[in-house]
Amino acid sequence: MGNVWGQLFPPEPHFTEKEIPSLEGGVFIVTGGNSGVGLEIVKILYAPGGTVYMAAVDAFLAQESRLDVLFNNAGITRQPAGSATKQGHEMHMGTNCLGPRLLSPRPRTAYASSLPPSGIVDLTGPPGGLSFEELKPGHFHSDMNRNYSASKAGNWFLASEFDKRTPDVVSVVQSPGTLKTKGWDGTPKLVRIIMAPLLYPPKFGAYTGLWACLSAEVKKGDGQKLINPWGRWHETPKKEVVASLSTKEAGGTGLAAEFFDFCTSRPRNTLD
Ligand SMILES: NC(=O)c1ccc[n+]([C@@H]2O[C@H](COP(=O)([O-])OP(=O)(O)OC[C@H]3O[C@@H](n4cnc5c(N)ncnc54)[C@H](OP(=O)(O)O)[C@@H]3O)[C@@H](O)[C@H]2O)c1
Repeated sequence: MGNVWGQLFPPEPHFTEKEIPSLEGGVFIVTGGNSGVGLEIVKILYAPGGTVYMAAVDAFLAQESRLDVLFNNAGITRQPAGSATKQGHEMHMGTNCLGPRLLSPRPRTAYASSLPPSGIVDLTGPPGGLSFEELKPGHFHSDMNRNYSASKAGNWFLASEFDKRTPDVVSVVQSPGTLKTKGWDGTPKLVRIIMAPLLYPPKFGAYTGLWACLSAEVKKGDGQKLINPWGRWHETPKKEVVASLSTKEAGGTGLAAEFFDFCTSRPRNTLD
């Protein structure tokens, strides 16, 4: 419950545009940068001189020889039960995990997964974060919150495994906060009415991402940790999900590594 409270009522932001030095020469990609949190990140990075790509991968490859930070921000929330991608994957999982996994961590210095697990992962997700059984076509869960939660745990697993497996890349996951964006559009009207007074401007979500990617407090080896709004470590993550991040040899369940391999082995257009 502490996590939910910490998400709904975070302390004042302490790492904002005022703390950011000149970003002249820095190169950034922000997926989903045309609205909500992503758009706020783009604006903040651009103002002090950063070169920011929002989606144009071809333009990026043609013009750049370095990448400092990849903000894997694009994502969807609370799609109707049974929704699937064209490839047949559960909609949240396909969009929030399998798509971003295609963006290999080629950046020289940092990879930031801005596809955050929220407190909802603790409350509504499967034990351990996600269930392989529920990823099989015909076996998707009927609760959209559970499917969304599983994809957010999947983001955490991918960030953690990237951090372990790519020596020169820092990879972390963060929960941006509860923010007034169109991400809430699919939520039942009553829930939106109840949540309305608790939603913060999307710029606050950008502050969480900025801390994850530019603060000196975030280092290589932090991939198993979770960042809370507006840039601080989560001190009491759910034990069952933390166990998924470690190998069986280290006392965990190895679920995160298994999920990373599952995402990596998926062909782009088929389920086989
Ligand atoms: N708002 C919150 O309270 C909250 C809480 C926890 C986590 N988050 C996470 O924060 C991230 C940003 O969301 P937001 O709240 O800023 O919502 P948003 O305004 O809806 O932004 C989502 C962005 O992702 C893009 N996107 C969605 N599906 C895509 C796809 N298949 N391919 C490419 N781009 C895609 C959207 O593009 P289009 O505009 O073209 O659709 C949009 O730019 C998401 O990962 C979300 O899960 C948000």
